[in-house]
Amino acid sequence: MIPEYIDDGTLRMQDDVDLDEYLKATDRAEDWPAAAQPFFSGREAQINAFRTMLDVMSDGRRTNLAFVAHGAPGAGKSALLNQLVADMDALPTLGDKPWLPVQIPRSAAASPHAVERAANRAAADRLSRQGPATTARAVERVRAGLQSALEGPLGEAGVREEALGLFQQLRERPPDSTQADALRDRAQGLLAQAGSGVHKALHAVLRRGFGAFGVTLGPAPGVPDEGIMDVVAANPALWQENRVVLFIDEAQNLNPGSESARDLLETIYQGRAGAAVGVCFGGLPDTKGVLGDMGISRLPSRRTPRLGPLPIPEAETVIRRAFHQFRVRSGEGWIAPLAERSCGWPQHVQRHLAAALEVIRDAGLNAGRADFAKAVREGDRLREAYYHDRVESMATYEDEATLVAQAFRSTPQKWLSNRDIAAAAGLSEDPPAYSAFRQAATRAGLLIRGEGPDEPLGHYKVAIPSFGAFLRSEPPVPIQPQDV
Ligand SMILES: Nc1ncnc2c1ncn2[C@@H]1O[C@H](COP(=O)(O)OP(=O)(O)O)[C@@H](O)[C@H]1O
Ligand SMILES: [Mg+2]
Repeated sequence: MIPEYIDDGTLRMQDDVDLDEYLKATDRAEDWPAAAQPFFSGREAQINAFRTMLDVMSDGRRTNLAFVAHGAPGAGKSALLNQLVADMDALPTLGDKPWLPVQIPRSAAASPHAVERAANRAAADRLSRQGPATTARAVERVRAGLQSALEGPLGEAGVREEALGLFQQLRERPPDSTQADALRDRAQGLLAQAGSGVHKALHAVLRRGFGAFGVTLGPAPGVPDEGIMDVVAANPALWQENRVVLFIDEAQNLNPGSESARDLLETIYQGRAGAAVGVCFGGLPDTKGVLGDMGISRLPSRRTPRLGPLPIPEAETVIRRAFHQFRVRSGEGWIAPLAERSCGWPQHVQRHLAAALEVIRDAGLNAGRADFAKAVREGDRLREAYYHDRVESMATYEDEATLVAQAFRSTPQKWLSNRDIAAAAGLSEDPPAYSAFRQAATRAGLLIRGEGPDEPLGHYKVAIPSFGAFLRSEPPVPIQPQDV
């Protein structure tokens, strides 16, 4: 069993970042593939739900291994996915199979060969982090495999020499991604020279062995399109001896009309790939529908968490961790008002924090001397820019959005039924007009849908209270640092 995840601050290596670097990287979570987010806080329930999937995987289950984190832009989907990757890297090995998180670009989800490439790359990166002893063992395995493939009369002298030369190069200098192409070309030249008798065995050895160093040979020439099952079968060292989880962000843009993408994901999800492979998706609120169309459905609800705002104490933790990391003095009184202002919305928390850090840096890292009002003004400006973008994304529904925001004026935290919201928006509850509005409003992060058990199913509320206030043109109230 994997232990429960508790965000107690013990594993904070990810916060080790320089202030100037931190302020430069405004959209860190969007770097892909990316490292864990500095000051990432909270999301314990979601990380534990992910860990239960890993538990099930290590029990040998192959089917239904999917996890879907969905939410509006800025809810923290990419950050959570990155954190889960870091989590897998830090988890102890269960049994003898290490965890292997593999971040793949969405376009690769239609190509088994691209998935193989990403998995090889991830394995090679891990190998290079594990140090020279592990690398030496991996090289030794390739050498032994090469030697046995070349044994017997079929291994001609020229082929043998070239193969051993190639191996020598691996031993001296394990390839990084810039050398991968050159190595692949050499391996392919070698295969072209090999007699047909030795070719097949040599190809299999090179494909597996070089894969461990991030060099992907892919299928032998003349082999028709390989499916994910063939790719898995061709490299048991990769897929059977690791516990692999694929990470796919922006999954709302997967194309259910693409037969190859559907085939790949469905084969994995139904456990027919020949190994236990998990898939972790991030995407906008309608991602579950898109995945359902691709054969990925009926997941337990805890494995399809909706990401909403962070509870205020967790938003405070983000800010406190940053202040601590950057040795901000006298900043304690800033934390609560900034967290409150952000409504706990992860993107706002980060933007208010960045704005504050900038003015605090200019005051010699002493918040007692820094201009609080200026920091708040700048954070407000960034938050409003976000709302402008979100309203624009609702295009023709701007007026309806404003009317709905009015309906929530006196009770910003209340859940309203479809009927109430349709009435407020002046739309008939029947599709298609109302459902198109609702899709636009959830995608934009104006409304979130109740998902039970504490939230009424089929009801909606305003996702971020300050979004409602923005639509009603209410100016933000002035705030002060807290007395501490
Ligand atoms: N739990 C969290 N703790 C701290 N910062 C977070 C958290 N979740 C997200 N963030 C930050 O909020 C911002 C938006 O998150 P991101 O993952 O890009 O959102 P999304 O992918 O949902 O659009 C990023 O700067 C990210 O680092
Ligand atoms: Mg994202």
